[in-house]
Amino acid sequence: MPVAPASIDTASAPFRFRPKVPAPRTEPMGLFAFLRAARANPITTWMRAHFEEPVIAAEGFAGRITIVSEPSLIRYLFVENAKNYRKDDLQRRILAPGLGNGLLSAEGEEWRNQRRTIAPSFSARHVTGFADAMNAAGARLARRLARRDGTMIDAVNEMTRVSLDVLERTIFTHGLKRDPDAVGRAITRTLSAIGPIDPLDVFGVPSFVPRIGRLRGRSAGRFFEEVVDELIERRKALIASGEPAPHDLLGLLLTASDPETGNGLTDLEVKANIVTFIAAGHETTANALTWALYLLSQDASVRETVEAEVDGAHRAEGRFALDDLIVTKAVVEETLRLFPPVPFMSRAAIREDRIGRIKIPQGSTVLVAPWVLHRHRRLWDDPDAFVPDRFLPENRARIDRFAYLPFGAGPRVCIGQSFSVQEATLILAHIVRAVRLDLPADHPPVTPLHRLTLRPENGLRLLIQSRL
Ligand code: HEM
Repeated sequence: MPVAPASIDTASAPFRFRPKVPAPRTEPMGLFAFLRAARANPITTWMRAHFEEPVIAAEGFAGRITIVSEPSLIRYLFVENAKNYRKDDLQRRILAPGLGNGLLSAEGEEWRNQRRTIAPSFSARHVTGFADAMNAAGARLARRLARRDGTMIDAVNEMTRVSLDVLERTIFTHGLKRDPDAVGRAITRTLSAIGPIDPLDVFGVPSFVPRIGRLRGRSAGRFFEEVVDELIERRKALIASGEPAPHDLLGLLLTASDPETGNGLTDLEVKANIVTFIAAGHETTANALTWALYLLSQDASVRETVEAEVDGAHRAEGRFALDDLIVTKAVVEETLRLFPPVPFMSRAAIREDRIGRIKIPQGSTVLVAPWVLHRHRRLWDDPDAFVPDRFLPENRARIDRFAYLPFGAGPRVCIGQSFSVQEATLILAHIVRAVRLDLPADHPPVTPLHRLTLRPENGLRLLIQSRL
C-alpha cells in the first residue's frame, strides 16, 4: 500500500544540508566483494532498490532474506505477528558473547520475565527523575568545553565520555572507583571487537569457533565485568546494612520484582543487564550526539535557532527541562533519522508466514533497516536533507509510527528510548549554550561507518568557540 510522503513546507527553508553518505549501489555484488564490503562497512552494501521498494526478498548466502520497508508491513512484523519472529541467530551470535543473557539477547520466557521485571525501572517517573543526573553531566561537560576556547575537541571521545558519565550517575550514582576513562576504553574495546560482522557469522560457523576480533576484546570484556561485579557486591552490602541506598538503576534492578510472579532478578541477571545497559546505551547515545554536533556545525540557521532556544530555556540553577527544548529535541530526532545508531534489526521466522504478498519461509531472515527506512524515497520528502522541522510538534503527526524506528517497535522496542532522547536533548542543550563547534576546513570527509552502531569513519574534530 503506498504511503504519503511526510512532507513539510519547504518555502521558508532555502538551504538544506545533505550530509555525505555512501551512495546506494546500482549493481549487485559477488560473494567475496559482498563479504569484504560487509566487513569493512555494511551500509555500503545497500542497493538503490532498497531505498525505493516497499519489500525486497533475495536469496542471500545464509538463505532467504526479506527486507521490509513498508510501515504497515513492519507493524505486522513487529507487533501484530511479533510472536512468530525471534531475534535471529546472526544478531544473537554477534551480541550474546559480549552481553551475556541480558534483555537485549535473551529470548522466550526468559526475556518475557526479565522485561516485565525491568520495565518499571524505565517508567516515565524514573526517567524524569534521572534529569538531575543528566543535567549535572551536561553542565560538567559544558564547563570543560568552555574552558578550552580556541582549541579542538575529538567529538567522538567527548560524547563517549559524557554518555558514560550519565550512565555512571544513573546506574551507579558515582560508584566507579576505577579510572572512568579506563572503564570507557575497556567498554569501547569490547564493543569494537564484537562490532564488525565476521564472515564466520554470516556462514553460520558455530560460536565456539573463535573469531579473531573477539579474542582481542576478551580481556577488555573481563575487566569490564569485574567492575560491574564489584559494584553489585558493594551495593548489596549497603542495602543489607540498612543504610539508605542511592536511587539509581542498580538499586532499582536489585529490588525489582516481577509483577506477575513476585520473583526478583538473580545476581547474574542484574549483572547481565547492567552490562547490557552500558553496552546498548553508551555508544548509541554518544554517536547520536556526535552526529548532532556535526549536523549543527553545517547548518547555521538551525544552529542559531537552537542557540536562541537554549539561551532562553537555561534555568538559574544551571539546568534545563526537557519540555522547554522543543527545537533541540527535534534536532536529536532528526539526527536519529539521518544516522540511526542501530542501522538494522533482524528477525528469524519461527513458522512460515506471509508479509503482505511475500512468502516468508520458516527459519528465514527478515530485516528492518532504519538506515534504509529513514531515507526511503516513498516515505520522506527530501530524505537525505537535515530538516529538524519534520519533528516539531505541528508536523510530527505526519510521520508514520512505523516509518521512523531508531528505537525499534513492538514488544522488543528499546527500553531506554525515553531515557536516551531525554539524555541527548539535555546534553546537547548544555553544549550549545556553552560553545559553538565548527568543522575545520581541512577536516577529512565526515561519513558514516557501520560497526555495531554508526560512527563517523574519520572521527570528528571540532573547533571550540566559547559562548559564555
Ligand atoms: C540513541 C540511543 C539508543 C538507540 C538508537 C537504541 C536503539 C535500540 C534498538 C533499535 C533496539 C531494538 C533492537 C531490536 O528490536 O532488534 C534497542 C533495544 C534495547 N535497548 Fe536501546 N537504544 C538506545 C539507547 C539505549 C539505552 C540508553 C539503554 C539503557 C539504558 C538501552 C537499552 C536497550 C535494551 C535493554 C534493549 C533490548 C530490549 C528488549 O529486547 O527487551 N538502549 N535499542
